[in-house]
This record gives sequence, C-alpha cells and structure tokens, in this order.
Amino acid sequence: MNMPVEWASASLREYLEDLVPPRPAEVQAMEAYAEKTQFPIIRAAAGNFCYLVTRMTGATKVFELGSGYGYSTYWFAKGVRENGGGTVHHVVWHADLSEKARAHLGALGYGDIMHYTVGEAVQALRETPGPFDLIFMDIDKPGYPDALPIIADKLRPGGALIVDNMLWHGQVLDRSDQTEATQAIRELMRLLATSEEWVTTLVPIRDGLALAYKQG
Ligand SMILES: C[S@@+](CC[C@H](N)C(=O)[O-])C[C@H]1O[C@@H](n2cnc3c(N)ncnc32)[C@H](O)[C@@H]1O
Repeated sequence: MNMPVEWASASLREYLEDLVPPRPAEVQAMEAYAEKTQFPIIRAAAGNFCYLVTRMTGATKVFELGSGYGYSTYWFAKGVRENGGGTVHHVVWHADLSEKARAHLGALGYGDIMHYTVGEAVQALRETPGPFDLIFMDIDKPGYPDALPIIADKLRPGGALIVDNMLWHGQVLDRSDQTEATQAIRELMRLLATSEEWVTTLVPIRDGLALAYKQG
C-alpha cells in the first residue's frame, strides 16, 4: 500500500510513543509542558531508548551535554539508579533551566545522584574528570563535530555515545541544504561512521539518534 511519507512518519511516531510504558505524574507534567511551550525535548520513545542503553551498558557515570529542564536527564537517572546508583551530569547554559531540572529530578527522587552545571557544555565536559560510561549530546548543532575529540577522550573504552537530532527533520537527506547546522550534523555522522575508534548506527526514532560504541 502506498501512503504519503508525512502520514507514515506521523503514524510511526505515534505508534512508537504509545509503546513506552506509562511515566510518573511528574514526568507526564514535563511532557505536557513541552507540548504547551514547544520546548524541544527528546520525548518518550527516544527517552526510553536512552534508558535502555543506560541499562544495557550498566552505566553508572553519565554526562549530558545540552540538557533542558531535566526530561532526557530523567531517563538516564532512572537507568543509573536501577544500575545500582552513580552520577548523572546535567549541563546547560541557562540557570532557569538548571533550576527547573533540579526541582523535577528532586521530586522524582534522583537528587542524590545528580550533578548540575550552568555553563557551556563541551567546556564543562573538558573540565570534569572522567571516564564516563555514557555521554549524551544535544547542544547547538554547529558545535557537534568539534565536541567529538573531547567526548572520545572522556568516554571509557566500551562506553556509549548517543547524539540527538541526527536526522535534523530530514534536512540531512536534502543535498541542497548546506546550512551550518545540517552540514555539522552530516560531518559528525561521517566522522563517527568512518573512524576505526567507533562502531556507529543511526536509529531513526523521532529526529534520529546516533548510537556509537567506543572500541575497547
Ligand atoms: C534541545 S535542548 C535539550 C533538551 C533535552 N535534551 C531534553 O530532551 O529534555 C538543548 C538545550 O541546551 C542548550 N544548549 C545548546 N548548546 C549548548 C552548549 N554548547 N552548552 C550548554 N547549553 C547548550 C540550549 O540552549 C537548550 O536549552
């Protein structure tokens, strides 16, 4: 059966979101806030994927670059707690978002494993002692390629990197799109896919998540 791509992708998105088990009321409120304000959270299907990778890798030290008000952070914190505890670094350059995250994650019972930094995320990673088991990146897209060497340095061998927006609303597929953000995303994907240091795939959940394994 032929169906318009837009229709298919909206239905697929809805189907994948519906597969995610119900979230606590606090998390549902975070999802409702994103809907109301159009804040770009990763949403439930991608969040659940991040949680799954956290559990599968047994990660106890996670660093998030470009956090919002704690939505994606929730999924990592849940995984780290279930892995036996550890630390999740939340980093964003907006103090109000950091405060909001503190309130949400505290209410969810993760305050004791959280570490908050207000500042530029790549610089914060550079200054934080590693190694980390899992690093998640969701900063402004032009910064993606330059962040990779710092990430590679801070991730343990056998660790995982997840990067959001790697499909960039389909713009990476449009060869005529030569904007800075699109080119930077393509460049990061090229670096990950061609390096012997990484084993990488692009998972087309929501806006595309690169999942990369740092070779031991
Ligand atoms: C897309 S939002 C993060 C959403 C979050 N991952 C979630 O799903 O809940 C990215 C946030 O990081 C901030 N940001 C972007 N680049 C940054 C950087 N280099 N350092 C610190 N914060 C950054 C943005 O202003 C924005 O508030």
